[in-house]
Amino acid sequence: MTTSAPAVDKGKLDEIIQSYDGEKSYLIAMLQKVQEIYKYLPEEAMTYIGSKVEGLSPATVFGVATFYAQFSLEPKGKYEIKVCDGTACHVRGSMPVLEAVKKKIQLKDGKMTTENGMFSLETVSCLGACSLAPAMVINGKIYPKMTADAAEIVIDTLLKENV
Ligand code: FES
Repeated sequence: MTTSAPAVDKGKLDEIIQSYDGEKSYLIAMLQKVQEIYKYLPEEAMTYIGSKVEGLSPATVFGVATFYAQFSLEPKGKYEIKVCDGTACHVRGSMPVLEAVKKKIQLKDGKMTTENGMFSLETVSCLGACSLAPAMVINGKIYPKMTADAAEIVIDTLLKENV
């Protein structure tokens, strides 16, 4: 499995653009729809929307997409790991957990997804589960009161399930 970009369906993009009457003020809604389909914003889709919608340019679309944290410019991994770094989790040691996960999945600096497409990692500001701090979520499942060692074991288990 690799993280190479999937082919973008331009017909589908046209439908999305038309559903908002090609109106540039709906750019964010259009990008949300694209992200729903691909789970991230492929560069090709942003370029297409930027060149099709009147009053926009690919650079504008790219600028908007990078400004909003809700948009991901990289494909997500099979396992989406979120380590909470809200206040409660931070004071109880979320950073060592984050570092341990990063090392274990061999995530390169500045990247959000591993090269094999297996894991993506991000921090979130609060999962709404502060009593379980420090908390980590993988594909929607919450892992409470994490430690660096516990996080490594969780990742090891996932790796074993995928050999
Ligand atoms: S601060 Fe982490 S769950 Fe609230």
